[in-house]
Amino acid sequence: MSLTLDTYRLLGRSGLRVSPLALGAATFGTEWGWGAEQDEARRLFDLYVERGGNFIDTASTYTDGSSERMLGEFTRDNREGLVLATKYTTQRRPGDPNSGGPHRKSLFASVESSLRRLNTDYLDLLYLHVWDSTTPVEEILRGMDDLVRQGKVLYVAISNAPAWQAARMQAIADLRGWSPLVALQIEYSLINRTGERDLIPMAREMGLGVVPYSPLGGGVLTGKYSRDDLTATTAGSDGSTRKSLNLTLGNISERNFAIAEVVKEIATELGRPPAQVGLAWTLQNPGVTAPIIGARTVGQLQGNLGALEVDFTASQAARLDEASAIELGSPHDLIAGGFARAQTRGDLKIEARR
Ligand SMILES: NC(=O)c1ccc[n+]([C@@H]2O[C@H](COP(=O)([O-])OP(=O)(O)OC[C@H]3O[C@@H](n4cnc5c(N)ncnc54)[C@H](OP(=O)(O)O)[C@@H]3O)[C@@H](O)[C@H]2O)c1
Repeated sequence: MSLTLDTYRLLGRSGLRVSPLALGAATFGTEWGWGAEQDEARRLFDLYVERGGNFIDTASTYTDGSSERMLGEFTRDNREGLVLATKYTTQRRPGDPNSGGPHRKSLFASVESSLRRLNTDYLDLLYLHVWDSTTPVEEILRGMDDLVRQGKVLYVAISNAPAWQAARMQAIADLRGWSPLVALQIEYSLINRTGERDLIPMAREMGLGVVPYSPLGGGVLTGKYSRDDLTATTAGSDGSTRKSLNLTLGNISERNFAIAEVVKEIATELGRPPAQVGLAWTLQNPGVTAPIIGARTVGQLQGNLGALEVDFTASQAARLDEASAIELGSPHDLIAGGFARAQTRGDLKIEARR
């Protein structure tokens, strides 16, 4: 397989053309204690765009607004050529209960402030960032649809929500003639394959493109952490500042080291850095539209873009699958197993067309 950033893919059941790797802008700014200063962020952005990339991912709250503000500057000359995605719900102003969350008041206020920071009059893609079970889905969908009709948002999408809720929302949007969800952003990588149970099959069935975040497990799949990092609390072995977050999130663990070991072995066989192998595995999954690269330095981004050229042998792909496999759980194991196949197909000859 050899892809390029300008080998575009369609996002879900839409005609929107996006690069097969998106550029994550959560590293734009150092307010969270890790990330890139503005000059380095500019270089990351320029490199991605020069290579043909068009799909940029940010959020209203990334680096306390700096990420959107920087993108507002960086996109000044080429706004039309880019697919700019941001998210709402996570903004919080102390003492103001309506300043965050998925409801209509928060939605409209968040979009207005994102438009101002991004220095644009429309967002290509707006995600609901984190589901919180407080707002009727009709209110969210109708609000999103109003923004689309006003031209402030072109496409709508969802992240961090239960599969059943996203499926229900999509069905309601379809029945009401409201703007459909075109993408699902979830954590998905060799260290986190839980999306294979319900979220990814749901997205395929309901027309949402899958946009995985943290495809390197926050850096663990680069192989840069060692067992010493399981207990240490200071900066990572290469001086990175992302380590304490990775410890908090549970990304640095014995299980994940075992997966990272297999990634390293295959990287050695291919003569490539482990990060490319980790990214390529997510990129090549047929259920995935575009993983989001999270790079802090130009060197990392340059290296990681090499994932577009990685080719696995069947046995290498099988070893990665095996090392990272998860229990599907009920009823998925039963459905995938022989019992259900015998029940549903028996001696019937049914050709699968999807
Ligand atoms: N929807 C959501 O809730 C959500 C959540 C998380 C992220 N996101 C999006 O997804 C994007 C990517 O997520 P992520 O940052 O978690 O992705 P990731 O690829 O799993 O981790 C990226 C981090 O790994 C390290 N790294 C990357 N390439 C490397 C290399 N070649 N060598 C060594 N270290 C390397 C860097 O951290 P250090 O150098 O600091 O170690 C970098 O910040 C974000 O920018 C954001 O746009 C969305």
